[in-house]
This record gives sequence, structure tokens and C-alpha cells, in this order.
Amino acid sequence: MKTNLNVNGEDRTLDADVRTSLLDALRMHFDLTGTKKGCDHGQCGACTVLVNGRRINSCLTLACMHDGDEITTIEGIGTAPDLSALQAAFVAHDGYQCGYCTPGQICSATAMLEEFRMGWPSNVTDDVTASPDVTLEEVAERMSGNLCRCAAYPNIRDAIMEVAEAKA
Ligand code: FES
Ligand code: FES
Repeated sequence: MKTNLNVNGEDRTLDADVRTSLLDALRMHFDLTGTKKGCDHGQCGACTVLVNGRRINSCLTLACMHDGDEITTIEGIGTAPDLSALQAAFVAHDGYQCGYCTPGQICSATAMLEEFRMGWPSNVTDDVTASPDVTLEEVAERMSGNLCRCAAYPNIRDAIMEVAEAKA
């Protein structure tokens, strides 16, 4: 089945079995291996990408469901000579050890900052009618779907908080 996707600003056509997950389409058909496969069933967040600006576990969705959608992977967030603010903060704060979870962490945090900007509440927001404050508790809750087996959480947290507070 053919599916038209815009991946990192480029129009791509996927010709694959309808059962192909978005994760496998990105990694195996488009060679975008920055997006990682950890658990392959929605438990770890390593496969997080943005679909039309919203974060999603790409292992849990079929590529053919995204005809016409804009997909952003870690390769589209920034490049080595032109890092995004979050990517630079992860480097500055040493927010990784093996790095396997890092693309998912950064894609997820990128969308999370946008969720703050739009005033979306989380499970720990006291007043859901007000714009949520950027607190450690809020960030921890909103990033709870992204696991780090190396437990680099303190540095990941510092990197994200630096950027979140700068944007607040
Ligand atoms: Fe998708 Fe773990 S690989 S959530
Ligand atoms: Fe190794 Fe997070 S840095 S899993």
C-alpha cells in the first residue's frame, strides 16, 4: 500500500505492507535510524516522534494511518552544526549515558514544551483552568512515558528544565 508522508519537511512515499508500524517505516524504509526501537509495544518512549507537532509512540501506530501527515524525527529536530535548544542542553548537561533513549527524550520534550506553551494541563496540575507552571513535578509527570535504562534522569531533568524555564 502506498502512503504519502512528509518526513522532516520532505515528501516521501512509503510502499509497504499495511501492517508496517510508523517506527519500522522510518527506520527500515527511510533509513532514519535516529528513532529507536526499545520495547516495540508502547512502554518505553524510545520511539517517540512528532506527528503534526504532537508526540506519539511510533511503534504503536501504523504508517498507513498517517497519509498526508507531517512526521518529525530527531533528524528533523536539529543537526550537529545546528542543534535545537534541547539538543544543546542535553549535551551541556550530559543528559545521557548510552544514548539509546535520547532521541525519544528530546522529541518528547520538544512537544512537551509546546504543550506548556498552549496551556495544556497534566495529571499533576492543580488548577486546570490556569496556565501550568513549569515545575519539576510537571516536567517529571509529562516526561514519565520516556524511560532511561541508564537512569540518567537527573541530567535529563536539568537539561529539560533549563530550556523549559528559558521559554517560560
Ligand atoms: Fe515504542 Fe518502546 S519502542 S514505546
Ligand atoms: Fe541509556 Fe537513557 S541514556 S537508556
